[in-house]
Amino acid sequence: MTAPAGRGLEGVVASQTSLSFIDGLKGILMYRGYDIHDLAPNATFLESVFLLWNGKLPTQAELAGFEAELAAERALDPRTLDALRAVPSDTVPMAALRTGISLEGIFDPEGEDNSPEANQRKAKRLVARTPTMIGAIHRIRQGLTPLDPDPSLSLSADFVRMSNGEPGTDEAVAALDRTLLLYLDHGFNASTFACRVIAATLGDMHSAVTGGVGALKGSLHGGANAKAMETLLEIGELDNVEPWLEKAFEEKRKIMGFGHRVYKTEDPRATHLREMSKTLTEQAGLGKFYEMSRALEERMISQKGINPNVDFYCATVYYALGIPIDLYTPLFAMGRMGGWTAHIMEQHADNRLIRPRAEYVGEQNLPWVPIENR
Ligand code: ACO
Repeated sequence: MTAPAGRGLEGVVASQTSLSFIDGLKGILMYRGYDIHDLAPNATFLESVFLLWNGKLPTQAELAGFEAELAAERALDPRTLDALRAVPSDTVPMAALRTGISLEGIFDPEGEDNSPEANQRKAKRLVARTPTMIGAIHRIRQGLTPLDPDPSLSLSADFVRMSNGEPGTDEAVAALDRTLLLYLDHGFNASTFACRVIAATLGDMHSAVTGGVGALKGSLHGGANAKAMETLLEIGELDNVEPWLEKAFEEKRKIMGFGHRVYKTEDPRATHLREMSKTLTEQAGLGKFYEMSRALEERMISQKGINPNVDFYCATVYYALGIPIDLYTPLFAMGRMGGWTAHIMEQHADNRLIRPRAEYVGEQNLPWVPIENR
């Protein structure tokens, strides 16, 4: 048997994709051939989802049609809402989201249909309904009634309204939308790979994305944006950054929002989020968190050679927007849903079961001992 791949499958190229390209040494990310540095300032989230699913940028008319189609799909199945009402109010929102997405699969009339046409329709429903679901989860846990979607609003604007009860400013909505675009897709990251493994068994789309939500929930992956904000709050003040970090190094603590399996230089998504964090924290009177982030970043790079990843500056962007910390990872899921569904469709279009081997390192050929003699 061949030697095992690097721990955690490091460096293993598991399959092919034409969805996103990453060069971890040069700090490049492209969706369908378009550089993230061109997309982030110019495109919307749904424009990028269209690009990812269709392999081409939409025309004005195509984008309007796509947005309208998704807007018409935003309402959750009432039975999903009933079930979410039964979730204890202290449930972690990512756990409620995982359960809600799975329920939508049960109620979806095409839940078990893996045809390309059904997959496209389900992908639209999933991207359209995830914001509604997160808004409902947030309101239900506060004892409030979930709000019906308003198809006249954009997906991001409607999310803000359905979670806060009032529309956000155009600037806040645009910032949120840009974070979703930056979270949209990223090669064979852990949650996307989980989706592809499930899809490759010919599992259905809802099963696969439910697995994706579960994988994203962990703090080494999507959970890191919330943990990064908790770290900044724990540090508290700019003057505390240095002593806090020294102690953290001594205790060999992982600094959340730093490090990446693929990027060994600036994560190109962080470039945009850093800029957004600066502007938005200043506007919100929370500039000290940006200053602390910069100090933490400078120290991490100079002492450890470790760069911030996508989650680090996204934390202060969401904080400045007034989003509750435990909704940061659900928002990551809201963006990544477009990527997960694209990968499931790509997997189903040219499928082979994903089934690696394990190197067995346990004992062998032990003598059988009857139960009364053990
Ligand atoms: N803080 C402190 N040290 C770190 C960090 C960090 N955030 N990240 C890596 N290191 C150190 C490790 O301790 C290790 O040092 P050593 O060789 O002296 O033992 C070295 O850098 C290599 O790190 P690994 O953990 O082996 O790197 P790996 O590729 O396995 O992990 C990961 C990548 C999980 C992202 C890691 O950097 C980490 O835990 N970061 C914090 C959590 C986080 O931000 N996750 C989000 C990632 S981005 C995303 O999923 C969207």
